Amino acid sequence: MSQLRLAIAGLGTVGTGLIQITDEDRFSDMLQVISVSARSRDRERDVDISRFEWFDDPVAMASADGTDVFIELMGGEDGVAKAAIEAALHAGKHVVTANKALIAKHGLALARLAEEKGVALRFEAAVAGGVPVIRGLRDGLSGSKVTKLQGVLNGTCNFILAAMEEGRTYDDTLAEAQRIGFAEADPSFDVDGIDAAQKLAILGALAFGAMPSLDQIAPKGISTVSPEDLAAAKTLGLRMKLVAVLRRDGQGLAARVAPALVPLTSALDIGGGGENIVVADSDPLGRVAFSGPGAGRGPTAAACVADLVTISRGSTGPVFARPTGTIDQSPDVSPDAE
Ligand code: HSE
Repeated sequence: MSQLRLAIAGLGTVGTGLIQITDEDRFSDMLQVISVSARSRDRERDVDISRFEWFDDPVAMASADGTDVFIELMGGEDGVAKAAIEAALHAGKHVVTANKALIAKHGLALARLAEEKGVALRFEAAVAGGVPVIRGLRDGLSGSKVTKLQGVLNGTCNFILAAMEEGRTYDDTLAEAQRIGFAEADPSFDVDGIDAAQKLAILGALAFGAMPSLDQIAPKGISTVSPEDLAAAKTLGLRMKLVAVLRRDGQGLAARVAPALVPLTSALDIGGGGENIVVADSDPLGRVAFSGPGAGRGPTAAACVADLVTISRGSTGPVFARPTGTIDQSPDVSPDAE
C-alpha cells in the first residue's frame, strides 16, 4: 500500500467533506491532498485550503506531475469536468468522481480510456451516496446472474415525499432538501427523475452489461404528486416512493423510473431522509439489498474515500467489472409494465 497524492477539483459540500476525512490520523500514511481547484479560491470554507497548491484550471491540475489521483467533484456531464477527467486519464492518473450524469453519459468511453492506460476510474459516490452498491454489484454479485434491480435512488424525492406525507408543502420541502445538501445544483434533475435514471443506467452497466440511455428509461418525476395522493395511499397501507426498476425482459431489458405505491411492509419503504436502497434479484444468490444514506456530505465523501482506499490497495481491472467492449451501449429497452 503506497501513499496517494490527491488533486481535488470542486470544493463544495462533498469536496470539503472529503478533505475533513483525509485529515484524520488514520489516513495520514495513505492519503495526502496536494492540490485543489474550485470556482472561488476565497469563499469561506470550514477547512483550511491554504496548505494546498491552488490551480485556477482544473484541467491543468488533473494532469500535473506529482499527482496520483484526480478527484472530480465539479459536476456537469460535459465541459470542464469531462475535459479534466480525460486529461487525468491520458496522463496516467487514477480518477475518482461522484458525477453520475457524466458516468451515465460518457462512462463507457472513459472506462475504455482508463483500461487502456492501466489506471482506475471509480465512482462509488455516483450511485446511492455512501451505500456500497457499485462494489456490491461489481464484485459481490459477480458470481451470480442478476435478473432484476429495484431501487429508491434519489434522496431528495424520498425526503420531499415523506415530508409532504406529514403535511408540509412541496416547495417548502424542496427548499429544505437544497439547504441540507441533498438536492442537485438544478433540483429539476431530482424531482423529474433524471438523477434516478442516470443512477439506474450506471447500475445497468454493472449488473446487466447494458447501459440504457435516459431516453430509453423515459423517467417520470414526482412534481405532480399531491398531498391528497399520499394521504389516500396511507389509508390503504401504501406509501409513495420514486421507484427505479431494471429487469431482464426476453433478450433485452425493461426499465422504469416513476412514482409508485409500495406496501408499508416492502423493503422499498425506507426512511424519509436521504436514504436509498437497491434490491437485486440474482441467480443463484437470491435477493440481496443494499441500503443506507444515499445523499449528503458525509456519506458521499465517505464513498469517495472508500474508492481511494481501494486504489491504494492496487485494484484496477475493468471499470464495470467486464471488458468495456462487452457492454451494450444501446440495449433493447422496453417500459417496465409489472
Ligand atoms: N441529489 C441526489 C439525491 C444526491 O438527492 O439523491 C445524491 O446522488
